[in-house]
Amino acid sequence: MTIARVRGIELAYSDEGTGTPVVLLHGFPFNRSLWDEQAAELRDRHRVIRPDLRGMGETPPGPEEAATMDEMARDVAALMDELRVARAVVGGLSMGGYVALSFYRMFSHRVRALVLADTRATADSEEQKRAREASALQAVEEGAQAIADDMLPKLLAPRTLAERPEVAERLRAMMRKTKRRGMAAALRGMALRRDHTGFLPDIFAPTLVVVGSEDAITPPADAELLRREIRGSRLVRIEGAGHVSNLEAPEEFNAALASFLKDLEP
Ligand code: MLT
Repeated sequence: MTIARVRGIELAYSDEGTGTPVVLLHGFPFNRSLWDEQAAELRDRHRVIRPDLRGMGETPPGPEEAATMDEMARDVAALMDELRVARAVVGGLSMGGYVALSFYRMFSHRVRALVLADTRATADSEEQKRAREASALQAVEEGAQAIADDMLPKLLAPRTLAERPEVAERLRAMMRKTKRRGMAAALRGMALRRDHTGFLPDIFAPTLVVVGSEDAITPPADAELLRREIRGSRLVRIEGAGHVSNLEAPEEFNAALASFLKDLEP
């Protein structure tokens, strides 16, 4: 395991391959192994950097009650400093996408391009915020298993759930590794995230938006909003995939990513 001491925490990360840097940010409550298939695909032509965001995977939680998306984005910038990466393609799935949008708002000059997968620009409603707090309390009291049982049916497309138990097992295994306090802090951080909708027209980086047609958490309408508001962006809809489209349909996801990255080349 590789660790960078940044901003008072020991951030675990992977750094493989050479070429244009690509930073991949995982969703909640997973870790960098969510991107194994993408790293394997990209590392011959790109330097693929994948942190475990604070409180997830092998990165311990910080002292804060709420790990905000801005905090996580600052961790990513500090990791890039540590690795001497000035600018990168920054991609995130779901919560990783919230962090990528925060990152762009704070450090747009460090973003070569954006990849926003199964994510959204909008903030939580009051009702969603209350549900986050209830889940945070549940995570602390009952642990990852309770959260996993609750989340799995929403994370995967019905067909993935019925026919590919190994995908659900992989998500469960990632969730089991996440510490209770890390889960709670990320849930509270997501509840505090700002609404980026009005900012989307100010994004000038080339942007790829990806969504699974069966995504029940951030449905295609969220992706269409991103596509509409971010000038010149490209939307790829993966038929039959749910919220974790990169894991449910790695071949289609990788093809979309590889073609987007190729078009960035001079
Ligand atoms: C994720 O997959 O990162 C989360 O489910 C996103 C969310 O709950 O808003």
